[in-house]
Amino acid sequence: MIVVTGATGNVGRPLVALLTAAGERVTAVSRRAAEPPRGVRHVRADLDDPAGLKDAFDGADALFLLVAGQDPQAILDAARAGGVRRVVLLSSQGAGTRPEFYRHPAAFEDAVRRSGLEWTILRPGGFHSNAYAWAESIRRGDAVAAPFGDIGLPTVDPADIAEVAAVVLCEDGHVGRTYELTGPAQATPRERAAAIGAALGAPVRFAEQTREEARAQMLGFMPEQVVEGTLAILGEPTEAELRVSPDVERVLGRAPLSFADWAGRNVAAFR
Ligand SMILES: NC(=O)c1ccc[n+]([C@@H]2O[C@H](COP(=O)([O-])OP(=O)(O)OC[C@H]3O[C@@H](n4cnc5c(N)ncnc54)[C@H](OP(=O)(O)O)[C@@H]3O)[C@@H](O)[C@H]2O)c1
Repeated sequence: MIVVTGATGNVGRPLVALLTAAGERVTAVSRRAAEPPRGVRHVRADLDDPAGLKDAFDGADALFLLVAGQDPQAILDAARAGGVRRVVLLSSQGAGTRPEFYRHPAAFEDAVRRSGLEWTILRPGGFHSNAYAWAESIRRGDAVAAPFGDIGLPTVDPADIAEVAAVVLCEDGHVGRTYELTGPAQATPRERAAAIGAALGAPVRFAEQTREEARAQMLGFMPEQVVEGTLAILGEPTEAELRVSPDVERVLGRAPLSFADWAGRNVAAFR
């Protein structure tokens, strides 16, 4: 049985669907109640309360772990006690390129590497699905706002992250590996807005935010340290952050999905 934390999210939802379609038994975990797909057990639990994870982990072989909660060691101990032998961690590119800002994912990576479990670490860059933050403005016919409008990054499709996770959870040959997950090409925020416009068949206007405007907005939903790290990646990306990684293609045997592809599949969210 495979436990998927973050099971109702952009990555977790398609991951649960893929594992179920492959015939795996799945326990889906999130804090809020959710209606799981047929045949999937859902357990409400908080990664910030490792003692409360016992029911989810009982009888599990493998764990897809989100960076959430304060004590990765306690989460991994509870997982091992339940029977888990393999863990796949959804970390973040920043844990590798800017660990001084991304201390939380870096601490989860350390704990996973020291756990004695079979581990694989996934380090995605920014997700295509961060563009959902523009949905309300687009539906209202307003311009979408983002900083650094002409700096392109190779954002990644959460569906590709889920597919890579499904493979490394189920197949051997990925233990002890850290995979950098990106899309197939760099795209700027201005180009991403245009791609949503193309999917809608109606142009989407783009308004560049100043760094300070973006910072103030991001502080509403991210810790300050992560805001600083994210602004640095968006505004002054390093070579490593600009690079298109070969890892999605290495694991899946096909190129990663583009932002335009994501926009086409998710266009209903912007109507
Ligand atoms: N977005 C990016 O650009 C980006 C880049 C690199 C890495 N990441 C990482 O990827 C992760 C997953 O992204 P996503 O887009 O799939 O997230 P998402 O759509 O926001 O979903 C988060 C999922 O995790 C659950 N969850 C959150 N906190 C939890 C907790 N303390 N205990 C148990 N479940 C919890 C949520 O359900 P409930 O709220 O009901 O618990 C939901 O199922 C992020 O959390 C982040 O660490 C994101």
